[in-house]
Amino acid sequence: MISLSSGVRIDVCPITALQGAVLQAEASLLDGVSQARAREIIAGRNLARRMMKCMGLPAAPILRDQFGAPIWPTGLCGSIAHSRRHVALALSYLSELRSVGIDIVDGDSLGQEARSIATNEEIQAFVASSLASGIDEAANLIFSAKEALFKCQASITGNQDLDWLEVRLSPGADGTVSAAAPSLPPLFEDTVRGIRILLEQIQGVNVFVAALR
Ligand SMILES: CC(C)(COP(=O)(O)OP(=O)(O)OC[C@H]1O[C@@H](n2cnc3c(N)ncnc32)[C@H](O)[C@@H]1OP(=O)(O)O)[C@@H](O)C(=O)NCCC(=O)NCCS
Repeated sequence: MISLSSGVRIDVCPITALQGAVLQAEASLLDGVSQARAREIIAGRNLARRMMKCMGLPAAPILRDQFGAPIWPTGLCGSIAHSRRHVALALSYLSELRSVGIDIVDGDSLGQEARSIATNEEIQAFVASSLASGIDEAANLIFSAKEALFKCQASITGNQDLDWLEVRLSPGADGTVSAAAPSLPPLFEDTVRGIRILLEQIQGVNVFVAALR
């Protein structure tokens, strides 16, 4: 587990290393899901519990809201992501951050899909920054950064329909990524603008963490 200066604690672990039981209250999360999906769900809950224990907090169930977002114990905000092999977790006290989102950069090529998630300007800005070495990598990073941002903004704005091209990302010289959403109403736009996105490498896995103070 590492703690960032923003107050968010993040951890990444192989899914295979976090198997075992979930809490009784979480059992219904596994109803009707594939074995692979069940392993992701179990790993996310067990990683969250491991981190909560490190923070001196009691074990508590992590259920889901109607949109699929995790419901955290009172006083916490957090986010979960999976790739084929890993699970990633970001957790913070609400007294330190209003919301947080995390996504794993899994490196799969987006192909033609890249055009629907990023503008040419965003791709060029990422290629020109120290973050990406080419167009494919830039598209991948933008995709993942926007997923982290989506998870971060959702609990604040309630906007589940945020479109990829409504958000414009700009990599900064300090390695952070800032966001804007000029076409959105002020509440949504202010929230998106307030989010700072950071690329971190944890246990050899790249993750984007989006945090809102
Ligand atoms: C919700 C979403 C971001 C999940 O991403 P994914 O790549 O499918 O899956 P990940 O492994 O990264 O994340 C899965 C976790 O996201 C969390 N999640 C699911 N829905 C969520 C939501 N509406 N808000 C916040 N978190 C959510 C859950 O914790 C889930 O894990 P769990 O089911 O084990 O608890 C994605 O499916 C989605 O709907 N995105 C909307 C489009 C988008 O991102 N647009 C960007 C616009 S800028």
